[in-house]
Amino acid sequence: MTVITTIEDLRVLAQKRVPRMFYDYADSGSWTESTYRANSSDFADIKFRQRVAVNLENRSLNTTMTGQAVSMPVALAPTGLTGMQHADGEILAARAAEKFGVPFTLSTMSICSIEDVAQHTNKPFWFQVYVMKDRAFIERLIDRAKAANCSALVLTLDLQILGQRHKDIRNGLSAPPKPTLATILNLMTKPRWGLGMLGTRRHGFGNIIGHVSGVADMSSLSSWTQQQFDLALSWKDVEWIKQRWGGKLILKGIMDPEDARLAVASGADALIVSNHGGRQLDGALSSIRALPAIVDAVGTQIEVHMDGGIRSGQDVLRALALGAKGVYIGRPFLYGLGAMGEEGVTKCLDIIRNELDLTMAFCGHTDIKQIDKTILI
Ligand code: GLV
Repeated sequence: MTVITTIEDLRVLAQKRVPRMFYDYADSGSWTESTYRANSSDFADIKFRQRVAVNLENRSLNTTMTGQAVSMPVALAPTGLTGMQHADGEILAARAAEKFGVPFTLSTMSICSIEDVAQHTNKPFWFQVYVMKDRAFIERLIDRAKAANCSALVLTLDLQILGQRHKDIRNGLSAPPKPTLATILNLMTKPRWGLGMLGTRRHGFGNIIGHVSGVADMSSLSSWTQQQFDLALSWKDVEWIKQRWGGKLILKGIMDPEDARLAVASGADALIVSNHGGRQLDGALSSIRALPAIVDAVGTQIEVHMDGGIRSGQDVLRALALGAKGVYIGRPFLYGLGAMGEEGVTKCLDIIRNELDLTMAFCGHTDIKQIDKTILI
């Protein structure tokens, strides 16, 4: 058994254990994947200032995101089909996050439903929505998230149209699903995954099936989503969602300072600098390169978070130094989940915490709340 010490180790194991169709869905970008690659490679250009002979006792990573206490400023991102990386994936990831003291964000496109995750956890989690044409469905989703005691709502603004993902098309993950012979043969080489799936009843989109009339299975669902994402999405809808929800609202998918200013005007509590993990507009800037201009544009008027490309605690510290109040990890926790279930998500969080703590200390700091750009060269 290989010793796991990095996020890359978890990725390699997940690739072995998760059927290609679902591994590729998580681990790919759109078109040439240039933005997907830049998201992580651009972090490497950001260099730290090493400091010495500073008292490094009593270090703390505790801080807040949208006013909520976190044991480190790293939330689990909303990721679609998480319950296909591992049986009951959303419940396992939510439990790992809860024990660790960081937020878990459930995607609308999850396999386990809001109610199911709430029933299997003790603390509030966050919930993510899109604006769909069926506003009554969105209202019901928001009400269900409130009833489940969710403590923040993440509104995704950059997925009204879908970036073309070649691997998904090749693997038959298109809508409607068309598994190829190769995909079916590949499924048969993943017995651990298959046994897990046989042991659970959670195989469809839990938040949707049974809650929308006419949606009974995956293939009618895919046509439903294609028809449902509202191309007419506007800032008025953001205000409507803010009002309907009434709690903490986080806007995801902001890449431009002008949109960041509009996000402030909408009354949202936080924005996420995000290019959807390089899965939407290929050729967009990496999130870490887009971050500074957005922080400059909005100052402290709104909390600025970021996601995209984080593969270590060092990357988390770089993002904080450039002005993010917190970050989200998507693929790193999915690798952990696919590799080892709940234990793998915990491992991922442990790796990131350890790297973040040590790097902060090398930069001569003991309190994550004090991090700013002076730690960078
Ligand atoms: C969904 O949000 C996706 O990126 O596939």
